[in-house]
Amino acid sequence: MKLSGNTIFITGGTSGIGRALAEAFHVKGNKVIVSGRRKALLDEFAAHVPGIDTIELDITDPSQIERVANTLIAKYPNLNVIINNAGIMPFDDPAGMNDDPQAVHLVNTNLLGPIRVSSAFVSHLKEQADSYIINTSSVLAYIPFAVSALYSATKAAIHSYSLSQRFALRDTSVRVLEIVPPWVDTDLVRKSGDPRAMQLDVFVEQLLAALETATTEVLVEDAKQLRNSAGPDEHGVVNYVNQMIVDNPLPTA
Ligand SMILES: NC(=O)c1ccc[n+]([C@@H]2O[C@H](COP(=O)([O-])OP(=O)(O)OC[C@H]3O[C@@H](n4cnc5c(N)ncnc54)[C@H](OP(=O)(O)O)[C@@H]3O)[C@@H](O)[C@H]2O)c1
Repeated sequence: MKLSGNTIFITGGTSGIGRALAEAFHVKGNKVIVSGRRKALLDEFAAHVPGIDTIELDITDPSQIERVANTLIAKYPNLNVIINNAGIMPFDDPAGMNDDPQAVHLVNTNLLGPIRVSSAFVSHLKEQADSYIINTSSVLAYIPFAVSALYSATKAAIHSYSLSQRFALRDTSVRVLEIVPPWVDTDLVRKSGDPRAMQLDVFVEQLLAALETATTEVLVEDAKQLRNSAGPDEHGVVNYVNQMIVDNPLPTA
């Protein structure tokens, strides 16, 4: 995609990848609108980067999504890119009891949220000459973490949905991209400086370079090994990666 001259709506722009990507797109000459639930952070971002617009949105609430989409389409008739970035990563135990309220909230946030946001904007995007739906999955879509099993499954579902969406929109002006981040040091789990995680600024720089030429998945170098390990021989990699997490747990506290 071209990296300037777009009007871009990013969900989950109050922190982490969404915020850094929003700022990078703004610097490159795009109109950027970010959303999230934490109004104080949206206000702080708008004050810190004049020109960025913000709107409150909880993506678990379908009526808020409809209202925000209608507001943005009316205010920004040239809006041509949506980035489904908002997400959460709670831990669970597929060998134990399912925490049902947590599971429902996770699926609402990570899977139904992006689907509902896409649905609310897709008619408008089809009317633009050059438009994009960009979904954020994870390398864990391909090689799951057993300590975050349902999170990994929601990201596998986003990968699957993106494939279908891309095919279904093939004869329209809407292209579908899937950002596949590796472990990036954000507050998704806990920002920790863990050397296994990629630094956010390095990730976003490489991500923008990859976005410029991507037609399907958007992968930085660090993500490629796990993404490409999926397939009939994936069980060895799944066991290896998960044993590594058992031996060296994620920085949760
Ligand atoms: N960091 C990684 O290692 C990594 C790896 C692979 C994939 N990812 C994916 O990258 C995306 C961004 O994560 P991040 O690492 O930047 O984490 P982060 O810093 O925790 O950011 C998550 C963002 O999602 C928003 N969000 C969460 N629940 C929401 C809701 N119900 N409604 C609206 N916004 C909501 C948060 O905003 P509010 O709290 O203000 O609502 C926040 O802006 C996620 O989809 C994540 O799964 C991250």
